[in-house]
Amino acid sequence: MILIDYLSDKVGGAFAQLGGDKNFGRVQFSDRPDLAQFQCNGAMAAAKALGKNPRDIAQMVCDILASDVELININIAGPGFINMSVTDDVLARFTCNAFADLRFGVPHFADTDRAVVVDYGGPNVAKAMHVGHLRSSVIGESVCRILRFAGFNVLGDIHLGDWGTHIGMVIVEMKRRYPTLVYFDENFVGEYPAESPITMADLEEIYPAASAACKADEALMTQAHAATVDLQKKRRGYIALWRHIMNISIASMKKNFAAMNVYFDLWKGESDVQDIIPVMVDDLRAKDFAVEDQGAVVIPVKQDTDTKEYPPLILYKRDGATMYGTTDLATIVDRVTHYNPQRMVYVVDQRQHLHFDQVFRAARMTKIVKDDVELIHAGFGTMNGTDGKPFKTRAGGVMKLEDLFEMGRAKALEKLHEAELDKDVDAAELQDIAHKVAIAAIKFADLQNNRIADYVFDLDRLTRFEGKTGPYILYQAVRIKSLIKKAAAQGDAPATMWQVTDKDRALHLLLNRFPQIVSIAAKNYTPHVLCDHAYNLAQEFSAFYSNTHILSESDEAQRRGWIGVCQATYNQLEKTLDLLGLEIPARM
Ligand code: ARG
Repeated sequence: MILIDYLSDKVGGAFAQLGGDKNFGRVQFSDRPDLAQFQCNGAMAAAKALGKNPRDIAQMVCDILASDVELININIAGPGFINMSVTDDVLARFTCNAFADLRFGVPHFADTDRAVVVDYGGPNVAKAMHVGHLRSSVIGESVCRILRFAGFNVLGDIHLGDWGTHIGMVIVEMKRRYPTLVYFDENFVGEYPAESPITMADLEEIYPAASAACKADEALMTQAHAATVDLQKKRRGYIALWRHIMNISIASMKKNFAAMNVYFDLWKGESDVQDIIPVMVDDLRAKDFAVEDQGAVVIPVKQDTDTKEYPPLILYKRDGATMYGTTDLATIVDRVTHYNPQRMVYVVDQRQHLHFDQVFRAARMTKIVKDDVELIHAGFGTMNGTDGKPFKTRAGGVMKLEDLFEMGRAKALEKLHEAELDKDVDAAELQDIAHKVAIAAIKFADLQNNRIADYVFDLDRLTRFEGKTGPYILYQAVRIKSLIKKAAAQGDAPATMWQVTDKDRALHLLLNRFPQIVSIAAKNYTPHVLCDHAYNLAQEFSAFYSNTHILSESDEAQRRGWIGVCQATYNQLEKTLDLLGLEIPARM
């Protein structure tokens, strides 16, 4: 049992004795830690329910609790807030338990094994991955890890943008550059080469050129659309070329994602559901969910409660082309068929909210999903530049992720050198440390923002090592680890049972907050609450460490007890960082 539930039972019991609901006794960590460790705000609601004065109710609850030897410092504040603290013995008991169990008391939240599909990352093939892909990737990965830890059967799906006009544009541009390639010869019947005619570096140059050319020239755009249609009709040469584009793009993506510590369970994409689209649309038409509208085929998803015009979901455009929404609806069909998920969570830019709302409405109306399936758009805000507009590099373009990582590593090496932390470390290890530090800096700077808020992408902040940053937290983690190592060297193993002292009481309280923090993060898909926790742990440990002579303490039980508390702190910090997708380097 976790501390907050243990206390809620006690206080709930007191409310029940007074004839009130047990739930009025819900206890939380105090908003005013200077007054007490915990508080219960239930007296106000209980007073209403029981027709009494809130302060009188609070007083009666306090009177009952007064006989509880585990509670101290019980008092009433304001209109009827009940404040209380626990004895050090209770606190120690709970942190000792948390140490024994690497779940730190976090319960399993899932009540069924049915999958939770998390749709994140979502890069389009043929393009270089850029900073615009950062948010979905790092938030989505953290959401997967949090849900997994909370006991859910998670399937993370990259949902590649691997079908559509952007491929058509690349085909047209390649045909212009290399007209003699066998892929363009309609009479060719032999086997296409296994080797790609272009590299990722070529593609990174071809794609923007193709896109700019098509935007500037309507005739080219028409050709690109025609090439897309031919691709959709499975023209052999185009499919072969598309496969090459896929292979080289995916290989490059895998490098980027591995660098970010992001791993997908499923590498599915838009192309995987193209074949089921005609079947789905025919079925929806037969059932009258899909109707013709000015030559297009749409699902009207407006509801009576809408106060504004609400656009229908377009399945086929007038020219018969499928849309983004068509693919997303078909993807839901595919997921239901293959994974029977209890929930689908889309970690996608908040600017696509209307799109998901339309798709979700269509999926519900048409019973493509049953009522017991949750569909959630966990949107995130825009990464803006310092000018307040969506981020662009100084040259006005997008910054490649690889370049961002490289800048981060260079900065990390510089800082490690300044702090003389690069002494007696071999080159390979130094690179590994610099990489982990850089990734922590970049990911933490993103993850610490409430996901729904827009934030300013500030390179300076990304590479800062002090204050609320990834590197600061990693540094504290490494410090704890080296302290434990030194302790071991002098023959001190961490104790598994300990007392609470004035020096570490705040740390104990913080360690006990973890289960609730995980629960909030899992419920709201908000990694930033874990960022806050990691930072608080790092700071609280640092304060404890600088006020306490741990290793030179003469009382062995005390010394080993403190080392135990350090180990518990390390374990929880490591877990918190892992849920954020961050790794602690061997040294720093
Ligand atoms: N490829 C899309 C884009 O670049 C993101 C995909 C998000 N996932 C989805 N199921 N629509 O905007």
